[in-house]
Amino acid sequence: MPKLPSAAVVCAALLLFCLGACAPASLEPVPEEEVREDRVPVPPWTIAHRGASAYAPENTIPAFLLGADQGAAFIEIDLQRTKDGQLVVLHDLTLDRTTNVEDVFPDRSRPAADGSDPEPHWWLEDFTFDEVRQLDAGSWFDAKFAGTRIPSFDEVITALRGRSGIFIELKSPERYPGIEAGMMAVLERHGLHRPGADPATPIVIQSFHVPSIERLSAMGVQLPLHVLFSARDADRWLSEDGLQQIRGFATGISPEKPTLASHGDGWRRAIELGLPVTPWTFRASRVDGFDSVTDEMRHYLEAGATGVITDNPDLAP
Ligand code: G3P
Ligand code: CA
Repeated sequence: MPKLPSAAVVCAALLLFCLGACAPASLEPVPEEEVREDRVPVPPWTIAHRGASAYAPENTIPAFLLGADQGAAFIEIDLQRTKDGQLVVLHDLTLDRTTNVEDVFPDRSRPAADGSDPEPHWWLEDFTFDEVRQLDAGSWFDAKFAGTRIPSFDEVITALRGRSGIFIELKSPERYPGIEAGMMAVLERHGLHRPGADPATPIVIQSFHVPSIERLSAMGVQLPLHVLFSARDADRWLSEDGLQQIRGFATGISPEKPTLASHGDGWRRAIELGLPVTPWTFRASRVDGFDSVTDEMRHYLEAGATGVITDNPDLAP
């Protein structure tokens, strides 16, 4: 007789089904007359990377509010999902680097499931939202941020509404089946699922995981969609063929900054094709070949970048 699935497997399957089924009901095309010209800010955009992360703990509300106060047009966030299906904002797949998880849950570490890392880590996907909220995500950066929590996606939207745009990175979405629909459902609940819905809080979505961007496009999402890529993938995406492919399912690109020097023709072609270009990551702590990070960002903007993704939004030209 075939073995029946365990209760845990059935629960996990139901959870994934619900997350996938929670797609917003109304992603039909926006009627032309409803499309606003001011759907995105006028370039150049300063995009605060994980918030004003040079000055406050990355991917936390204090870093986001500071980035907005420093004049960033967008705040960049990394979106992931807890074990019980809550969307939260965290860069690493593990909680090790930016929280006190080791003290709070000393027995909950394990090696990577795929064998890629034999060292034990505390994986976000193993923790419920209530557990994640017990962690201090500020003290690692500075004692004055003690007690800062990992924020939910919902909280981030509420905190930034009317203050800045949000540049949402789907971080490793291949680990979280259905996260695209889950994200759109939250945006729809806030009325931000259509371009131009709130000019004070425009939304751009990006990911390194191209199938995720293709999925959003196939779902009928009309928000700006950027393909994120590192220098090692520049040959593929900054070629004529690559850019034409991108135009089929995305609206912009977020290349790693050294690609301007290595693939200048690709940059020029992307700009010619009308693709917004938002390079990353500009840091005062690591300036490559310029007197200051301000000079470095200016160089990229003069080369045609639509915006710059930076840890130091206050230093953008
Ligand atoms: O927004 C671009 C940048 O955030 C991509 O790299 O690793 O900081 O998420 P990472
Ligand atoms: Ca990111």
